[in-house]
Amino acid sequence: MSPKHQSDLVIVANRLPVDRVVNDDGSVDWRRSPGGLVTAIEPVMRANDGVWIGWSGGTDDEEEPFEDEGLFLAPVPLSAQEVREFYEGFSNATLWPLYHDVVAKPEFHREWWESYVAVNRRFAARAAELAAEGATVWVHDYQLQLVPAMLREARPDLTIGFFLHIPFPPAELFQQMPWRRQILEGLLGADLVGFQRPNNAQNFVRLVRQRVGHKTHRDLVYLPDGRTVQAAAFPISIDSKGLEKLARSASVEARAKEIREQLGNPRHLLLGVDRLDYTKGIYSRLRAFGELLVEERLSLEEAVFVQVATPSRERVEQYRRLRDDIDRLVGRLNGDLGRIGRPAISYLHSSYPREEMAALFRAADVCVVTPLADGMNLVAKEYVACRYEGDGALVLSEFAGAAGELRQAFMVNPYDINGMKDAIMTAVHAPPAERSKRMKAMRRTVAEHDVTDWAERYLDALADVRPEHHKQVKPARLS
Ligand code: ADP
Ligand code: G6P
Repeated sequence: MSPKHQSDLVIVANRLPVDRVVNDDGSVDWRRSPGGLVTAIEPVMRANDGVWIGWSGGTDDEEEPFEDEGLFLAPVPLSAQEVREFYEGFSNATLWPLYHDVVAKPEFHREWWESYVAVNRRFAARAAELAAEGATVWVHDYQLQLVPAMLREARPDLTIGFFLHIPFPPAELFQQMPWRRQILEGLLGADLVGFQRPNNAQNFVRLVRQRVGHKTHRDLVYLPDGRTVQAAAFPISIDSKGLEKLARSASVEARAKEIREQLGNPRHLLLGVDRLDYTKGIYSRLRAFGELLVEERLSLEEAVFVQVATPSRERVEQYRRLRDDIDRLVGRLNGDLGRIGRPAISYLHSSYPREEMAALFRAADVCVVTPLADGMNLVAKEYVACRYEGDGALVLSEFAGAAGELRQAFMVNPYDINGMKDAIMTAVHAPPAERSKRMKAMRRTVAEHDVTDWAERYLDALADVRPEHHKQVKPARLS
């Protein structure tokens, strides 16, 4: 399709896969956007014709659709005030903490809500404009929960899917939301509401019954107008074959070796990779590692921790505070425990290309993924996909969605620092045969359930909800 035409498949997400960066000389560059949503959707879109509607990260966006490396992208502009109120405010200081187990305190402000409604309306209007007759529109994530109902009102001919990439909270927490009914009704505009885990879908159906009063049975909601909405779990995944191929390349292998050498060829290289987000449990994880060194359960000669933490949502107060706290902790640990040329923690704020990420995963003996709450966590799956020799160990929080599938990981409760220390030690010292058994089992899971399988299962289920209404959209295989 050409960017000017309407499409049979429309993806609507707050982020486009690329961010628009204006350089000092006024020239414009496009940089890959952060986060798991883009990692997952991009390969699906590359294998299919369709258009991707989203924000390009700035405040001076063009509205014209454009093509970027084979993807058709349609920017939705946000004003500086909307970035503050819709993006930093309602999306990331209200919904994000509320949906992640109130790990931080959500703030409720009426003007933020108004901005959320206005921006959702803009996204819905754009989707209505770019969707062909009878098309499938797939709306993503917590920033756009009102879009399904707004879009249905404008375009009843469409098949509308929604997928939430983050957890959906239990009723006891969701109840706090002053606009709870509007959000539930917004989501019910979709034919299929997809979640990462079955308990998220159950929370949603229960809330719809209690708060909106619709009849429900198992995973179905019956609306008064005769329409049925399904709510079910579709655990998201990665392009595991593509990543493994990259990990096997000679250049990535060489770079992995180089990384280890630069770190002094430690016996145990531990790795954490996260957006700098308070849900990711970075602070406690580094404390746990620091204590292991202080207690001499690990020594500086044998172990190093590489923590990659890309700054995220930096104008939101909670994120700024977290960054300061972690900077201070790392400074203290390296000051107290490190030696010249040998820091205890190698702490990096950079954002890396895929090759460098694959090399880091190849270099690491242990990957430590310890979120306090997380919809899925793709880093865990990426580490597994890169360990094609069946070695390496994954330490994984039981509160990551990925724990539902990667059951052979070394599981931890991230609130239990002593438990986390023990699990890290068990992972570090596990006999090679045990590590291999665990890793191979996880590799089977990640290979069988890749991101194409996820998209296929979601779109098949979406087609089944309203078969009479639907132009079949089938995602092509990635390879
Ligand atoms: P979230 O979506 O909350 O950020 P996920 O773990 O699901 O968490 O996804 C994060 C994605 O971002 C992964 O694909 C990971 O490889 C990528 N990523 C994280 N940190 C970096 C970084 N510093 N450079 C490049 N990619 C990164
Ligand atoms: C998570 C969210 C995405 C979001 C990403 C990056 O993956 O589920 O919706 O895009 O984090 O966050 P940002 O606020 O930079 O878009």
